[in-house]
Amino acid sequence: MPSQTHLKILREEIRQHNYRYHVLDAPIISDGEYDRLLHELKAIEAEHPEWITPDSPSQRAGAPPASKFDKVPHPAPILSLANAFGAEDTRAWFERIQKMDNRISEATFTVEPKLDGLTVVLHYKDGVFDQGATRGDGEIGEDITANLRTIKAIPLRIPVNSDQCPVVSGQDELPLFKDSPSLITEYSPPEYLVVRGEVFITHADFAALNKRQEEAGEKTYLNPRNTAAGALRQLDSRVTATRPLTLFIYQIVHAEGGEVPNSQWERLEYLRELGFPVNTDSRHFDDLEEMIHFVEGWEETRDQLPYEADGIVIKIDDRALSDSLGIVGKDPRGAIAYKFPSLEVTTTLNDIRVEVGRTGVLTPKAILEPVEINGVIVRNATLHNFDFIAEKDIRISDRVLLKRAGEVIPYIIASITEARPKHARAILPPSNCPACEQPIEHFEGEVAYYCVNAACPAQLIRNIEHFVSRGAMDIVGLGIKIVEQLVNEGLVGDVADLYSLSKDDLLALEGFKEKKANNLLDAIRASANQPLNRLIIGLGIRGVGESVARDLTLHFADLDALRAATQEDLESIEGIGPNIAAAIVDWHLLPFNQEMLGKLRDAGLNPSGQLTVDDGQPALLEGLTFVITGTLPTMSRKEAKEYILARGGKVTGSVSSKTDYLLAGEKAGSKLAKAKALEVKVIGEDELKEMENNVSV
Ligand code: IVH
Repeated sequence: MPSQTHLKILREEIRQHNYRYHVLDAPIISDGEYDRLLHELKAIEAEHPEWITPDSPSQRAGAPPASKFDKVPHPAPILSLANAFGAEDTRAWFERIQKMDNRISEATFTVEPKLDGLTVVLHYKDGVFDQGATRGDGEIGEDITANLRTIKAIPLRIPVNSDQCPVVSGQDELPLFKDSPSLITEYSPPEYLVVRGEVFITHADFAALNKRQEEAGEKTYLNPRNTAAGALRQLDSRVTATRPLTLFIYQIVHAEGGEVPNSQWERLEYLRELGFPVNTDSRHFDDLEEMIHFVEGWEETRDQLPYEADGIVIKIDDRALSDSLGIVGKDPRGAIAYKFPSLEVTTTLNDIRVEVGRTGVLTPKAILEPVEINGVIVRNATLHNFDFIAEKDIRISDRVLLKRAGEVIPYIIASITEARPKHARAILPPSNCPACEQPIEHFEGEVAYYCVNAACPAQLIRNIEHFVSRGAMDIVGLGIKIVEQLVNEGLVGDVADLYSLSKDDLLALEGFKEKKANNLLDAIRASANQPLNRLIIGLGIRGVGESVARDLTLHFADLDALRAATQEDLESIEGIGPNIAAAIVDWHLLPFNQEMLGKLRDAGLNPSGQLTVDDGQPALLEGLTFVITGTLPTMSRKEAKEYILARGGKVTGSVSSKTDYLLAGEKAGSKLAKAKALEVKVIGEDELKEMENNVSV
């Protein structure tokens, strides 16, 4: 029997793991183990909905859409900052405020990266996250609580007294704040606390997001900031939940019924002790010149930061002193934004090149008049898609505004139409593929233009590159150059041909000697043993990446079962929508792919079986085959599937004489009828759980 005490302990455990993963970036359990804890929590809450609290870790999935955002008055004005451009401006600022108040000459400084994100204001009442708002006009913001809840780095609960502060344990390895005493015991946490932070998307998360979009043939996002802004302004928070938002907290806006330190540096530490994500790149300085020296150094290395910072915020550390200096307009005098030079430049768009991706998507790339941005010469940039080009009215020979930040591929922001030369040419989607010259297709309602020729050499090269990549078949030593050689020499016409390459084939290629040929053949042979989920990833079906492949492996025993799946079978899998389901069915309809699957099988690639489960559950359901249908009382079908697999059972998509059990919930349809006809045993969720106790080992 679940008890409320157990629930409380479970929630605290999940909260700790969430914090370790999303704030400290130092998880101590696997994703699978985390999912199981969350699943247990959801099961108990499903049984006892009256026990659900707003700070429960289950309350982050997103809520049904709102029709608009309510207004939220801020408890204190959400101010902005005056800018300083370089060391001279910074010294001038310091002299100005020193003249106003002589105590400034003794002041110390806290400096923080100025993240290029969106300000949010979070309210905590009695330790529970109660409301979150946008900045708005600085006086009144908009209520985006439901969206903010989905950001895992935001604590849903913070301690209300120092005994409740377990969150900082085990963090001594962090480079910053190492020697600080525990401030939370010195200043009792406020009953009502309002903090301000910046929501953003890291460069790495943004690149991964766009890669997924591109692979699915969908619109890529223009830049991290706009994407974060769009996600925060979603009326449907379930959409927000799918975007990789994170944040740092840097300011205490308001505190009631408790105390907070006066020093900004200590406030950062204090916020960290309360469980907020705080930027550990922040620093504290006693001396103005030392601080300036450091900030100048930062400017040089800004590209290495994992997020986009457009400057450094310099704050007089003593908050009471800083506040006493007052405000000019909306800018407090006690802080200043040291702005980095802009990463935007203008150059000429000399031409475009259309690249053909793995799935046949055509992506326009800009060929630019070379230009330097922050020490790097930029020659190419992404133009996203043809809709973007049309919307922005970008033409060849235009002057264009270009940005490069972090490791992200430079992108064109706009064309400068005022400077358009007479000979500027409009850019239209090609009617034929630049690689194979076959006609291009454009599907209703999609942005992408496709080359649908399955034998297109450009696609083939990208396809093989994907097939051999690390997340898929992981064939070491088969780089893009060799792939091009193999395709251009006609040695490989599809991925299956890799497995029939001979040593002589390779030795005939430029740059191949005995050893290199042997190594490559060994690597190809070894890849034939990769498990089913990797092979599925390798097939390169539109929208089928790591997580979809995993879901598919959980439902289908082998490639034959996947091929036999109908649109309906596929759509019934949680996490697979109609588009991906259709992409999988369509992929299997193409004769080219059917032939290739046959060749793979002939070459000995026919993995079956399930994902390896990493949790050491005893294999109590070993040898038993299940089919799942209908709505189960507490588990989703996916969860039930994982439950069975974790215990060594097998789960297939359709009922046959080989099925041992049909696990049926409410609204079970044709599968139930078929099971009855075939006299397959039908069980419910409870019986499934019972089985674990009855099966002898
Ligand atoms: S302090 C009075 N600190 O930069 C306090 N701002 O105008 C003013 N920002 O839009 C803000 N990181 O959203 C501060 N560590 C940081 C910041 C930061 C980013 C943004 C803020 C505002 C702008 C400053």
